[in-house]
Amino acid sequence: MNHWICPSILAADFTRLGTEVQAVLDAGADTIHFDVMDNHYVPNLSVGPLVLSSLRKAGFDCTIDAHLMVKPVDRLIGDFVEAGADYVTIHPESTEHLHRSLSQIREGGAKAGIVFNPATPLEVLSEVVDLVDLVLIMSVNPGFGGQSFIPSSLDKLRQAREMIEVSGRNIRLQIDGGIKPENIGDAAAAGADAFVAGTAIFGHSDYAEVISALRRNIA
Ligand code: DX5
Ligand code: ZN
Repeated sequence: MNHWICPSILAADFTRLGTEVQAVLDAGADTIHFDVMDNHYVPNLSVGPLVLSSLRKAGFDCTIDAHLMVKPVDRLIGDFVEAGADYVTIHPESTEHLHRSLSQIREGGAKAGIVFNPATPLEVLSEVVDLVDLVLIMSVNPGFGGQSFIPSSLDKLRQAREMIEVSGRNIRLQIDGGIKPENIGDAAAAGADAFVAGTAIFGHSDYAEVISALRRNIA
């Protein structure tokens, strides 16, 4: 399976968002990771569907995966699907009825993702594995960029990889938080095939150089 590098725009320069997105795509990014924070589910506030639809209106046709850290999430799912998200990824804690929320994403025509925080067990995945196209493992507590990778996430990745293999379904396994050239190899060895990186990419002066370093270290 090919590996995806997914720059998180949270670390981009928002005064030049279009230019930043174009720059990481030119540098070899596979998807744009769009972090949505509500100052309720997580203690930070970022951007909403308006910004995502602005990227679409500006002509960006790249894959965009929207990571929704908002609660309650249901009312916003449709807005993000309509804004043009290819993947909408939600936390089980952000909805009363996970099965319904995941179905809602698919019914809107997007792909559905489920995301597990460092302290959230994976159990529920087996109940909804038929409804998801992406599993995201948080390797930091959600809410901020620039935090350190939590090593126990590697065990969780291995468990998730096994559950995905058992399901026999074509599901992406993404890792998010503190990913950099020094640890991406460990995440890949533990089964991840999609790697979110904010600070490591946008904090580097040469996006192409850091993205090739990330790719090189996956191998
Ligand atoms: C954290 C976000 C991450 C974050 C990653 O809540 O979900 O996507 O932006 O940033 P880095 O790569 O800096 O840890
Ligand atoms: Zn994220």
